[in-house]
Amino acid sequence: MDSKGLMMKGISMIFPGVKALDGIDFSAKKGEVHALIGANGAGKSTLMKILSGVYVKTSGEIFINGQKLDIQNPMDAKKNGIVIVYQEVDTALIPYLTVAENIMMDYLITEQKSLFIDWRKIQGEAKEAMNKLGLDIDVNRLVSNLTLSEKQMVLIGRAVFHKAEYLILDEPTAPLSVEETDKLFEIIEKVKKRGVSVIFISHRLDEIFKICERITVLRDGKLVGDYDIKTETIDTIVEKMLGRKLESTFPKHDIKVGGKIFEVRHISGDGGINDVNMHVNAGEIVGISGLVGAGKTELMKLLFGASKRYEGEVAIHGNMIAPKTPAAAVRKGLALVPEERRREGIIVQESIETNATLPTLKKYCNGAFMNRSLIKKSSCETIELVGIKAPNEKVPVSKLSGGNQQKVAIGKWIISDAEVFMFDEPTKGVDIGSKAEIYKLIGGLVAKEKGVIYATCEFSEILGLTDRVYVMYNGTIAAELITKNTNEEELLRYSTGGGRDE
Ligand SMILES: Nc1ncnc2c1ncn2[C@@H]1O[C@H](COP(=O)(O)OP(=O)(O)OP(=O)(O)O)[C@@H](O)[C@H]1O
Ligand SMILES: [Mg+2]
Repeated sequence: MDSKGLMMKGISMIFPGVKALDGIDFSAKKGEVHALIGANGAGKSTLMKILSGVYVKTSGEIFINGQKLDIQNPMDAKKNGIVIVYQEVDTALIPYLTVAENIMMDYLITEQKSLFIDWRKIQGEAKEAMNKLGLDIDVNRLVSNLTLSEKQMVLIGRAVFHKAEYLILDEPTAPLSVEETDKLFEIIEKVKKRGVSVIFISHRLDEIFKICERITVLRDGKLVGDYDIKTETIDTIVEKMLGRKLESTFPKHDIKVGGKIFEVRHISGDGGINDVNMHVNAGEIVGISGLVGAGKTELMKLLFGASKRYEGEVAIHGNMIAPKTPAAAVRKGLALVPEERRREGIIVQESIETNATLPTLKKYCNGAFMNRSLIKKSSCETIELVGIKAPNEKVPVSKLSGGNQQKVAIGKWIISDAEVFMFDEPTKGVDIGSKAEIYKLIGGLVAKEKGVIYATCEFSEILGLTDRVYVMYNGTIAAELITKNTNEEELLRYSTGGGRDE
């Protein structure tokens, strides 16, 4: 083995009740982009948190250029040039500080020797770090006012600023638009040319084939292998990842579409939503397509009573519901799996059980008495149903892997008896095997004659899953299409403001 670069040997990690990693070997050479992949809960983030000093390994050794390292905390890792950009973007930044302060945070803590803080210098250097990324985010803005993708960029800016030699990106592209992803890949190319080794985690396998040279696959906390990307295809990698072949991603649902159950007339409101008309029939999956920022999330929020409506009507089964709050929307038969689940969809410090049964709590109560055993039974069923990987239902959601946290947010609504289910990018950060499971669950909802609204920027999901699609552009509906009569080109054209084909 070449002693240049990074090597992790026989790494194990035991959490109470979980052997998250079992004797993993992992190596990354200087100047290569190395993919780390595996299903949700396979141990990717844990391995990288050990490398970056967030967790201290139970056993194993870490070497850089042949020299053994003792990494006990994030500072030890940074001193050795190892910088991680976390999967949980919102936990890694301090919301009430500015972009500049966040970028310079470690510098302020460790290197600022004098009591005098030169804010001009800090701003200047932060700006330079952002410029290197070709980004024009005002460094004086508060982080709390940034979008998810802007926060992501700030984190990457911070890593670039810290002159990382080993840059770990844990699902960096999940919240990014196509253009932002391309921009990130350009940046990765740049840092790679400077000899930096980039460790890249993603559930979007096509991205991995675009930018990575080598690929390490984990399954259930064990190493499957380390491969040259040139010898692999998406299919061979999926098989290694899941331990089985994936037959079909999108289930065939052959359901007779019934009458109108949900109708939206001339709705306008916060987030730039302007005069939207749409409807959903019983047993129908209706897609909301559009690029990142087209207004899909804003529309979902508006329909769900989570943002302010200026005008327009919303009806279920012909009855006006006009929800002013999410609680009212739920009572009227709506459910929403929101996009920013960690912020809006789940309470991370609470258990899976609490989270899973929260929206449907009434079902388990008889007057003031909660039926504990029913709650337990139902949450165990949810865990089973959506395939959440966890030791038991009492585990706090914060202890689950990123993708499994998402599944909790989805599971808690799937078991509710809403009439219309709205999903906002539900498969973001979810592995390819679990994606297929989620599509199946959605198929199950329409089989029960529910209505489904499915918002996504992935055209493949629109084409594979939905019956009909509304394409959004600039806060309004640019087109309504029958899915089987459309294609990616047409979706893209309407999504970018283009018109009907002549
Ligand atoms: N702090 C913790 N306490 C207890 N268990 C944990 C903790 N962090 C992770 N785990 C467990 O370790 C296992 C591996 O989790 P990890 O987050 O590394 O998965 P992952 O491969 O990154 O998955 P994803 O694709 O969903 O992000 C999971 O079973 C998870 O529940
Ligand atoms: Mg992870």
